[in-house]
Amino acid sequence: MVEASEVQRGLQDVVALESRICFIDGRLGRLLYQGYDIRELAERSTFEEVAYLLWYGRLPTSAQLGDLSARLRELRALPAPLSDWIATLPPTTAPMDLLRTAVSALALFEPEETRPGPSSIGGAQRLTAVLPTILGQFHRQRTGAKPLRPRPELSAAAYLLYAVLDREPTELETRALDVALILHADHELNASTFAARVTASTLSDLYSAVTSAIGTLKGPLHGGANERVMELLAEIGTVDRVEEVVKERLARHERIMGFGHRVYKVEDPRATILRRWSEKVGAAKGNLHDYELLRKLEEVVHREKGLYPNVDLYSGSVYALFGIPPDLFTPLFASSRVAGWTAHVLEEYDDLRLIRPTAAYVGPTDLTYVPIAERSADAGPSPGRAPPA
Ligand code: ACO
Repeated sequence: MVEASEVQRGLQDVVALESRICFIDGRLGRLLYQGYDIRELAERSTFEEVAYLLWYGRLPTSAQLGDLSARLRELRALPAPLSDWIATLPPTTAPMDLLRTAVSALALFEPEETRPGPSSIGGAQRLTAVLPTILGQFHRQRTGAKPLRPRPELSAAAYLLYAVLDREPTELETRALDVALILHADHELNASTFAARVTASTLSDLYSAVTSAIGTLKGPLHGGANERVMELLAEIGTVDRVEEVVKERLARHERIMGFGHRVYKVEDPRATILRRWSEKVGAAKGNLHDYELLRKLEEVVHREKGLYPNVDLYSGSVYALFGIPPDLFTPLFASSRVAGWTAHVLEEYDDLRLIRPTAAYVGPTDLTYVPIAERSADAGPSPGRAPPA
């Protein structure tokens, strides 16, 4: 029998599987995709190139990159019934709920892409191409903007911006988003990737795995943190209030979103890069308000709690400068991480082993079944959960 003392809560430090995709050195603040340092990729690469790297394990030649980019552009359109369904949604629909349900529904129209196995790479490309279209169509209809066009001449980053902004993005905006997409594309066995791999490990299909992953990313302790950071900035308002608001929150034992990480014990290298982009885009737009608040927030949270920023601290401040609403921040994260999720699912199919851990049982044993007529409402052998009144 497994003892409760053996439990690694939250599977912390448990080594669950071997992977070649992503390496994190949490003590040195180092992140590699397939052996390449994220800082170099953010400086010199594009999201399409990084997607190729994650899926195929090597950097593409220029012909290979051209083929993949063309393929991703061809795969942007939605099946008509799915597009019609999105048109019926109320504007109050949460975009992450839309994304999760739309990916699940997409499988109904693409059964050939859902077969688990090495051929799922077609599904990986399809999902990576289509998420911006799902978001763009929904966001345009809820804001009364013009209908979305496929725009095959646009890169992944430019298309995503065009899809949600209904305008031509500038070069600086496109490059800033491209860098953000590169930085979010993978992160080893984070919660959503693990969820995707657990689903794939039952030999379920890629679309089911990505549906699991989107539902997992949605939570505020994971991808949902970037939206909460912007709520915090709105509550703080001005730099002179940072100290007071942080201290109040910490006194109430509340978490400060965008700080802390399960793996990094130093600054998340993605935060270092996004901080620079937050300043760069803010300076170009003549609006450093959020950047200055975030700098002060970093100073106070580090002094009070010893915590460093994670990837979610600065990403929202960059997206907000483009005019993207906060409820699309986590969906933007998903539009990038889908490359990593699908790379991990492909890796799982290559070396399949059902993921099925064990629990330490801490409940009662040897209870005697009491006939229903003889049971009382308040007595019970274990505290359990309060039944409905
Ligand atoms: N604010 C305040 N206190 C914090 C924070 C935070 N952001 N993060 C950790 N702590 C504290 C905890 O309260 C706890 O303190 P205690 O020991 O006094 O109770 C201690 O640090 C350890 O926290 P754990 O939750 O056990 O650490 P874990 O490794 O599970 O935390 C996590 C990782 C969930 C990301 C956490 O740091 C957190 O909640 N951060 C805020 C949410 C966030 O920004 N998430 C995005 C992460 S990046 C990503 O998923 C893309």
